[in-house]
Amino acid sequence: MSSALKPLTGEQIRDKFLNFFAQRDHRVLPSASLVPEDPTVLLTIAGMLPFKPIFLGQRSAEFPRATTSQKCVRTNDIENVGRTARHHTFFEMLGNFSFGDYFKEKAIAWAWELSTEVYQLPAERIVVSVFRDDDEAFEIWRDKIGIPAHRIQRMGEADNFWASGPTGPCGPCSELYYDFHPERGEDNLDLEDDTRFIEFYNLVFMEYNRDGEGNLTPLANKNIDTGLGLERMAQILQNVPNNYETDLIFPVIQKAAEIANIDYSKADAKTKVSLKVIGDHARAVVHMIADGITASNIGRGYVLRRLIRRVVRHGRLIGIEGEFTPQVAQVAIALGENAYPNLREAQAGIIAELQREESRFLETLERGEKLLADIMQKNPKQIPGRDAFTLYDTYGFPLELTQEIAEEQGLTVDLAGFEAAMEEQRVRSQAAHETIDLTVQGSLDQLAEHIHPTEFLGYSEHAATSEVTALLVEGKSATEASAGSEVRVVLDRTPFYAESGGQIGDRGYLSGDEVLMRVEDVKKEGEFFVHVGRIERGTLQVGSRVSAQIDRACRRRAQANHSATHLLQAALKKIVDDSISQAGSLVAFDRLRFDFNCPRALTPEEVREVENQINTWIAEAHPAQVAVMPLPEAKAKGAIAMFGEKYGDEVRTIDFPGVSMELCGGTHVSNTAEIGVFKIIAETGVASGVRRIEAVAGPSVLEYLEVRDRVVRHLGEQFKAKPEEIPSRIESLLGELKATQKQLEAMKAELAIAKSDRLVSEAETLGEFKILVADLGEVEPDALKTAAERLQQKLGSAAVILGSVPTPEKVSLVAAFSKDVNGKGLQAGKFIGGIAKICGGGGGGRPNLAQAGGRNPSQLKQALETARQELREGLQ
Ligand code: ALA
Repeated sequence: MSSALKPLTGEQIRDKFLNFFAQRDHRVLPSASLVPEDPTVLLTIAGMLPFKPIFLGQRSAEFPRATTSQKCVRTNDIENVGRTARHHTFFEMLGNFSFGDYFKEKAIAWAWELSTEVYQLPAERIVVSVFRDDDEAFEIWRDKIGIPAHRIQRMGEADNFWASGPTGPCGPCSELYYDFHPERGEDNLDLEDDTRFIEFYNLVFMEYNRDGEGNLTPLANKNIDTGLGLERMAQILQNVPNNYETDLIFPVIQKAAEIANIDYSKADAKTKVSLKVIGDHARAVVHMIADGITASNIGRGYVLRRLIRRVVRHGRLIGIEGEFTPQVAQVAIALGENAYPNLREAQAGIIAELQREESRFLETLERGEKLLADIMQKNPKQIPGRDAFTLYDTYGFPLELTQEIAEEQGLTVDLAGFEAAMEEQRVRSQAAHETIDLTVQGSLDQLAEHIHPTEFLGYSEHAATSEVTALLVEGKSATEASAGSEVRVVLDRTPFYAESGGQIGDRGYLSGDEVLMRVEDVKKEGEFFVHVGRIERGTLQVGSRVSAQIDRACRRRAQANHSATHLLQAALKKIVDDSISQAGSLVAFDRLRFDFNCPRALTPEEVREVENQINTWIAEAHPAQVAVMPLPEAKAKGAIAMFGEKYGDEVRTIDFPGVSMELCGGTHVSNTAEIGVFKIIAETGVASGVRRIEAVAGPSVLEYLEVRDRVVRHLGEQFKAKPEEIPSRIESLLGELKATQKQLEAMKAELAIAKSDRLVSEAETLGEFKILVADLGEVEPDALKTAAERLQQKLGSAAVILGSVPTPEKVSLVAAFSKDVNGKGLQAGKFIGGIAKICGGGGGGRPNLAQAGGRNPSQLKQALETARQELREGLQ
């Protein structure tokens, strides 16, 4: 291949294009952002996109002609990047536009002039195409420009009818191709043969609008939209084999090769693919971040994340270890910053975002390695294709790496299964059109790698429009959940306070088009706010935009209770002891709890004083001042920090000047007056040296009082007394109750004794001794004793053993022996102690009268039988 072309740098090609059209009355406009205003596309995919409303007649053009160098990102060919000579994610499209001004003839003539005179492409190297039915364009090329008819190809709709999407402005187009191999002859000018031809300039004759059904209606104006691929023109003019080796990209590739210690010119094909991917994606990534996109699991954030991950894993494939994306990004920034000065301004942000993403992804890779180890253990011969795909898709784990590790362990990978899973995924994402499959399987832990931390808006907002970034149903990641499901939802931003610092999570609702979810709690998991609740209506999906609204009444209550704990700490310090410090707290909607270090219980007077002090501060209406400042400054100002708590360098302080100043991340009243009223409910000890105050504040006080009031009223009715008379009424009733109980005991004893009198006749005679052993039933120990004494006296020379079961778990035993029984060597104390053992107890006493107890009433019968036997033996 010979070339007499005059080489131009990328920058020269760009400048010449813009100048050429500026000289032809085109307004030179800066590139629009990669984040389009057009909501139907994720990213700016063509130079015409910013002008779409003008083509559609929705906006009038301030000038009839414009020219731009537009940065674009397309991801539909991402798998081809680096594998063909010309596929990109990021590219620059040079365009000239006519808004109802010039049309086909001028557009074609200028395209020809620019190509052959400015870029000096030899005419015989250019082949053109026109839309099948577009005779007008055909004739212009043939008759006005002078291209031989066989070098003007008519092509079908797929190639020569251009549209920015399924609906919208569109029209037939005409393309200019460069012929790298004219020596192959003119017999078969196959423009599809990309080893020979490259399409470099597309002229779209935009004259129709296509509706949802595919119907074309003429636009009010006939317009021109063109696109010349800067990288492609650079490849042609710089005489290099592909776009990547042009000065627009190659320095990035060289940087990556240098980091990997590779000589590009000697690298094998596979390594070159990786280097080209890095070169292409690095440019995409720096421009995307500069335009405000941050990596996430959704939409364009996901595209960015995917690109960064591909850069990292291709880096690994060529042997780069550790962080390297900032280095290649620096080169990409330097290459683009003249034409796109915002790259320079955003430099620090770009580097920071890359560092964050790269380190996250490296962690993910590590996790993938662990998962792979598990998979290999379960599948000792071959790694299932689906598992390899999960590793690739969810963990961003390169197939090549899976294969490599598998091989080391003597395993293979089911490649067909992998391809099948990949194909399934491709079909799925195609079905979703340009919107990539944005869902990631796995738990929140895995999701953490893919989604952005939740932004908390709740200090100032009660409602916000948010995007669902993750959904968990039964702990598993899901793409959607419908009515009745219990779900955990992560939002990109939220007004909901997540439980922390003792304060309970907010309640409220997420609502959207026909969907309603009740939020019952909000937890913080890492940097994510997880909204826990139930879908009441409709279906919630990852990516849904919802209105997130907190229950303001609940928030007000939590706020009143939280600020009250601050006042409580201040009051305890002031009234009880300045050295008191917080040991823990709970701030709920209906109450608060404050644990503090204090060696003793508070006196009732102190409790009352603390309560009064707080209510005084509430009445004095102290405004809150919330500020964020460096920790040392907060401490210098006297802010109270919780001992043992970790704080960042910057801390948030809640200051009720002159009353209380604390470091705190919670939500608070804006003035102490909002607390309304404060009431201590209890002061107790929870551990040695730690006391607890339970209290209520704000509306909760009324609820607390209402309950009390109801109880008091009920008592009043029961006791037939006014509330203030209840205590004395109860006191006298208690006195009466005690006296009655005493009487009852005495009567019971009398009854037992009376009953025992009847037992005299049952005594057994053994020589000069009488033996009486009996079970008296449920008699109390005292009465049992009296009965035993009396029986012994009545019987004279006698040994009396009585047992009873005063309560279901207790046994009572008594022994009353006369002196002559003692004379036989039997001591009441010793004797009854031995017997009690049988009932699981013990006891003892004097030789003539002793009591014992036991815990096994079921053994009483046995015990009494033993006693009878022993007495018989002892008194013979
Ligand atoms: N809008 C046309 C294209 O992107 C020029 O090819």
